[in-house]
Amino acid sequence: MELLDIVEHEKNEMMPESYKNRSVEEMEERVRDIKEKFGSRLYIPGHHYQKDEVIQFSDVTGDSLQLAQAAAENKDAEYIVFCGVHFMAETADMLTSEHQKVLLPDMRAGCSMADMADINQTDRAWDKLQALFGDTILPLTYVNSTAAIKAFVGKNGGATVTSSNAKKMLEWAFTQKERILFLPDQHLGRNTAYDIGIPLEEMAIWNPLSNELEYEGNVEDVKVILWKGHCSVHENFTVKNIENIRKTKPDMNIIVHPECSREVVSLSDYAGSTKYIIETIEAAESGTQWAIGTEMNLVNRIIQQHPDKNIVSLNPFMCPCLTMNRIDLPHLVWTLEGLERGELSNQIVVTEEITKDAVLALERMLAYV
Ligand code: 13P
Ligand code: SF4
Repeated sequence: MELLDIVEHEKNEMMPESYKNRSVEEMEERVRDIKEKFGSRLYIPGHHYQKDEVIQFSDVTGDSLQLAQAAAENKDAEYIVFCGVHFMAETADMLTSEHQKVLLPDMRAGCSMADMADINQTDRAWDKLQALFGDTILPLTYVNSTAAIKAFVGKNGGATVTSSNAKKMLEWAFTQKERILFLPDQHLGRNTAYDIGIPLEEMAIWNPLSNELEYEGNVEDVKVILWKGHCSVHENFTVKNIENIRKTKPDMNIIVHPECSREVVSLSDYAGSTKYIIETIEAAESGTQWAIGTEMNLVNRIIQQHPDKNIVSLNPFMCPCLTMNRIDLPHLVWTLEGLERGELSNQIVVTEEITKDAVLALERMLAYV
């Protein structure tokens, strides 16, 4: 599990109950005060899937790629209070300097997809895949993975990818090796490989639980090995949801994130990263209709920002990402008030050993996109 996979000295500190009884107005005032007091010494990145009550205070908002780039570029901030999930805060810690401290307002803000690949499973898989295919495989990992997985990938010549650059990175990877092991999201891996022309028959699945390759043909034909992980939010968009929209609202455009299944992506009109979805809706004409298949905090924000367009969630019963939602206004205030007292609660510290190799994977990506 991701949160247990991390360095031992990370402590999971819990917010005192009293924070839940404070008024929203008072907490918002405290955030404004503390931000003003710290000025550029404090930096708050916020992922697009964060709640409005948090994102309103972020100094930069973005998708995973934009936030990784922002962390790498920021050389001034002493404290980075990361409003996103654990793997994003780890990435920020690895891309910033020694004197910069990264804090995650709630250590329970993990990612179920990142939890689906741990380093022991990966080492076991690698041994077996090397025995099967020899030195023909390059590992790529979605940034939604632990620092330890990124280090494994970096050490073996591979790179990280995000949903904004997966296509470019996969094309690059094929200039390096004949085959790719894609961790941990089978859907992003499959959708991207399909986009660059790899037939589905040349994709196998690696099952980390049985430690076996799932493939029916001749293994010599395998080009992409997809780790059997997925996003528990995006898997809730189904073919049935698409059929319902097509039947009831035939003029509606359907746009989804590539963490959705191949079937859902192939039946949609558009698919792309969080940033792509935001920009596509922004560029769309007034009066157009959209069904969006991605996280609900973002979909609600897009709906509010575009009253001139008819926008709905592709799945009408969709919920926000529960782990992203762990970061709320009380946790943000608690973290900032701790800083004010000179206390670092929930600091994310990736060991030097892991950072050294993981940064190789991250920098290969950042240099390439
Ligand atoms: P992007 O920010 O790359 O679109 O990824 C979405 C996501 O699921 C983040 O956890
Ligand atoms: Fe992880 Fe999916 Fe939540 Fe993103 S939306 S943090 S991939 S569970």
